[in-house]
Amino acid sequence: MKIYKADDYRGMSRIAANIISAQIILKPDCVLGLATGSTPIGTYEELVERYNKGDLDFSAVTTVNLDEYKGLTKDNDQSYYYFMHHNLFDHVNIPAENINLPDGTEPDSKKECARYEGLIRSLGGADLQLLGLGHNGHIGFNEPADAFDNETHCVDLQESTIEANKRFFASADDVPRQAYTMGIGTIMRAKKILLVASGKDKAEIVKRAFTGPVCPQVPASILQLHPDVTVVVDAEAGSLL
Ligand code: GLP
Repeated sequence: MKIYKADDYRGMSRIAANIISAQIILKPDCVLGLATGSTPIGTYEELVERYNKGDLDFSAVTTVNLDEYKGLTKDNDQSYYYFMHHNLFDHVNIPAENINLPDGTEPDSKKECARYEGLIRSLGGADLQLLGLGHNGHIGFNEPADAFDNETHCVDLQESTIEANKRFFASADDVPRQAYTMGIGTIMRAKKILLVASGKDKAEIVKRAFTGPVCPQVPASILQLHPDVTVVVDAEAGSLL
């Protein structure tokens, strides 16, 4: 595992964008696994800037997003579909048919999870998977548990996650209680992994996840076992390392 400590959020975003840009340049038809949350927004801004300068071409890129709230429609401004279009897809030349997310409007969890897992497999898995980090160590929406979940599945969100994400909704009651997420196995099958974390409130979990024991109670800790992981933190998130 490589860990880069940037001075600040901008520096973290630039390093992450460099790694993603290198992936796209080296393999223009790569499969990018993408993430939501506030942390990768600066990375997406950097990528859009490089696209606008003519340095990046997304025309052959395919994307698979980590997760989606169950029950939110695509036009709901809190859906991850909306987030990804607003922050990245609407600003670059990725073909609409190359964009993939779990379908939050599919009520049949078993059917949707099997479809999404099958799709990722049919694409040969992600060449590079971008991840954020939840305060409780979750990646995607893989919450702390007694065992690691392998494939795409439907999760009941934990209170702490609902609490952390309620800032984006009118009230905590509006935060969906369930989500579809790639499993830990799906994530671990990506060829490369890039995790970004920023801010003081992530310092403790960054330390636990990357220097503590590997256990399903801290889902991100399993990344210690992946052969090609890069963690990019800003000074605050990396302050306890
Ligand atoms: C959500 C997402 C995760 C994300 C996490 C952290 O729960 N499902 O993929 O990593 O939040 O978000 P933030 O970057 O806003 O701290």
